[in-house]
Amino acid sequence: MSAELVIRGGTVATAADTFAADIAISDGRIVALGKDLKGAREIDARGLLVLPGGIDSHVHIEQRSSSGVMTADDFYTGTRSAAAGGTTTVIPFAAQQRGMSVREVVEDYHKAATPKAVVDYAFHMIVSDPTSQVMGQELPALIERGYTSFKVYMTYDALKLDDRQMLDVLALARAHGAMTMVHAENHDVISWLSDRLLAGGHTAPKFHAVAHASIAEREATHRVITLAEIVDVPMLLVHVSAREAIEQIRWAQGRGLKIYAETCPQYLFLSAEDLDRPGFEGAKCMCSPPPRDRDNQRYVWEGLKSGVFQVVSSDHAPYRFDGPDGKKKHGPNPPFKMVANGVPGVGARLPLLFSAGVGEGRLSLNQFVALASTNHAKLYGLYPKKGTIAVGSDADLALWDPKKEVTITVDLLHDAMDYTPYEGRAVKGWPVLVLSRGEIVAEDGKVSEKAGRGRFLPCEKPSAAVPLGRRVHGFEPSSGKFQAERLS
Ligand code: URP
Ligand code: ZN
Ligand code: ZN
Repeated sequence: MSAELVIRGGTVATAADTFAADIAISDGRIVALGKDLKGAREIDARGLLVLPGGIDSHVHIEQRSSSGVMTADDFYTGTRSAAAGGTTTVIPFAAQQRGMSVREVVEDYHKAATPKAVVDYAFHMIVSDPTSQVMGQELPALIERGYTSFKVYMTYDALKLDDRQMLDVLALARAHGAMTMVHAENHDVISWLSDRLLAGGHTAPKFHAVAHASIAEREATHRVITLAEIVDVPMLLVHVSAREAIEQIRWAQGRGLKIYAETCPQYLFLSAEDLDRPGFEGAKCMCSPPPRDRDNQRYVWEGLKSGVFQVVSSDHAPYRFDGPDGKKKHGPNPPFKMVANGVPGVGARLPLLFSAGVGEGRLSLNQFVALASTNHAKLYGLYPKKGTIAVGSDADLALWDPKKEVTITVDLLHDAMDYTPYEGRAVKGWPVLVLSRGEIVAEDGKVSEKAGRGRFLPCEKPSAAVPLGRRVHGFEPSSGKFQAERLS
């Protein structure tokens, strides 16, 4: 039987295997894997890797920052950039502000996404006001309708929950089988340090990294792990940046707790030194938690290798540098507290990770696929529709040329931003052709203009079938060497 389309002669890689195969596609799904498959149309993938399309499970699209700045990307430009960088599913946040109904926030977010998305998407929710209406009625009903994950904050005046509220949210997640994502930083430490820094005239972007001290991340990480242990529920720590926080997560995983963790390119490729770029340029690398020092980067890589982290997401938070609604909204050189937190990255995430991870021997190709795609699908209830290459799965594929050398520039990324923090960075390996449900959405630098073709994905309840790190690595700063020991 002839399929509509065959991807011929590529090297297929999943999170588990690497093998030579053709892929036959009909009606947007994979219908066969094998040799010499027949199709009405063919794409020649000889010399290319054929990987599951990336899933970016942490992006901010059409969302206002806590300092009142709107993201530059809407669902059209945000998902177009995703496609350009090999990502075929995004999960942004329907963000509740205090006083709002989460149900209405979700309805409004659909209105923003439906006419514009180029690739498929699911929604997380942000819960900042866990009223009895929200906790007793709205969230349970939304979870049943396919919104099975929510993010909660331990910092930001407008968003943070106290420990008692956090326990309530974790208990709700346990009762209804949802996944809680936590932004773990100690709010009072950050605000106390910020006040002292600002009072002393230390207003430049680099002091953002001083205020957001890594031990404030450590303390909050430990505290919320404790809360999850009390409730006995899986939980995921987002955008983990610091060695001290990684140590807490590894400790929890070693004790058998289902604590999952995400990191992001900014903690692998940027450092606190980037916040000290001349003039106000450091603001281009300001996010929370901030990029740390180079030793931290090595810890984060080691956490990827050893399985402490299950997912690498971009935390794409595209606030423009110039213009009235951007990092300079509150003046040409505002104090760090007035600068929107976040860096863009949905388009650059996979080329950066592939190049430094697979290309430079830090990760296997299969680890890359797990971190870039498969584990996101499993943790957020989209597997095996998304996140793998198997008969029956959606034909979301990224054809990578592992030898293609590219210098990243903002123009290549097709977002609505006026900068990328990775401008000028050379990478080897690039997604040269990207398919979403069997349809080409990016090819040789051109991206689909079909706003509205992306579909909403209701999520199943997350599966616990994602491996957690089992090895413990002790890092000796003096020798600069990692020493692995087995816990079990
Ligand atoms: O700085 C960041 N990460 N901004 C986006 C909001 C968040 O906390 O993820
Ligand atoms: Zn966050
Ligand atoms: Zn974020």
